[in-house]
Amino acid sequence: MANNYQMMTVRVTAIEQATPQIKRFTLAARDGGLLPAFTGGSHVIVQMQDGDKRYSNAYSLMSSPRQLGHYQIGVRREEQSKGGSAFMHDKVQVGDELTISTPNNLFGLADAPAKQVLIAGGIGITPFMSQMVELAENGADYELHYSFRSPEHGAFATELAAGPHGACTQFYINSDNRPLDVDALVDRLPRDAHVYVCGPRPLIDAVIAACRSKGLSDAQIHWEQFAAAPQSGDGFTVVLAKSGREIAVDEGESILKAIEKEGSVPVECLCREGVCGTCETKILEGEAEHRDQYLSDGERAAQKTMMICVSRARGARLVLDL
Ligand code: FES
Repeated sequence: MANNYQMMTVRVTAIEQATPQIKRFTLAARDGGLLPAFTGGSHVIVQMQDGDKRYSNAYSLMSSPRQLGHYQIGVRREEQSKGGSAFMHDKVQVGDELTISTPNNLFGLADAPAKQVLIAGGIGITPFMSQMVELAENGADYELHYSFRSPEHGAFATELAAGPHGACTQFYINSDNRPLDVDALVDRLPRDAHVYVCGPRPLIDAVIAACRSKGLSDAQIHWEQFAAAPQSGDGFTVVLAKSGREIAVDEGESILKAIEKEGSVPVECLCREGVCGTCETKILEGEAEHRDQYLSDGERAAQKTMMICVSRARGARLVLDL
């Protein structure tokens, strides 16, 4: 896959507190012109400079792909924030400028006439808001299932219920004893349905498992989650082939962090979440345990490259083309 991000400056024109933990940011071009076109499910990477600290996070575009006078993103303040979501919540004000990437889509809609079923948990609602514009426009047979823990945490639920997608949206509110029953939902779907899920990892895993047990192929199951993969797993050794240096990657540490700590080789990285592809590195020996969302299944199986910001070694040693 080619990495085709370009960076641009946008101005924050509105900030809205959508729930106690989620803010919606509206971003416009600095010159007031149109922003680059995108398709439903696309994301941008926001780069933030906080003193000498720099953060990069990927956020789905939730605004309409047909209205390019602005983009909108929803940002949840993460308890375990690397710093980026806290910066967005605490420091970014209307009128500030932000550096963002051009949009890229790793969660696009399938080009299939079948039923399209969108399943969102919490902040996972955002990519579906832009996707549903395209689904409605194309006259698609689609439905949205949106689960959240209590009414005050249902970001954008009121506008969804009142808007053009309200008739095909079902809400599931845990505190009201109306939880989402993933197995029952998937069980009633036609066998050719395409299922999309975005939200917390347990929801994604439950939907994937239910779809597979119903016999849906992996090509019919689409998921996205922006969060750095936890760096669990045993430590291992990385050899940087160009310099011959050997670097120990500890448990709980990413290859990228270990290389940065050692300091001898500069590595390009934009998102640090396995999303953007800028840290893609050739594997010369050994195998990766892939944890990114960038490579295709075929590319992962080929074991030719890996994303060193999130993926780890499958084994005790990896030799990389660095
Ligand atoms: S820095 Fe974006 S995929 Fe690694």
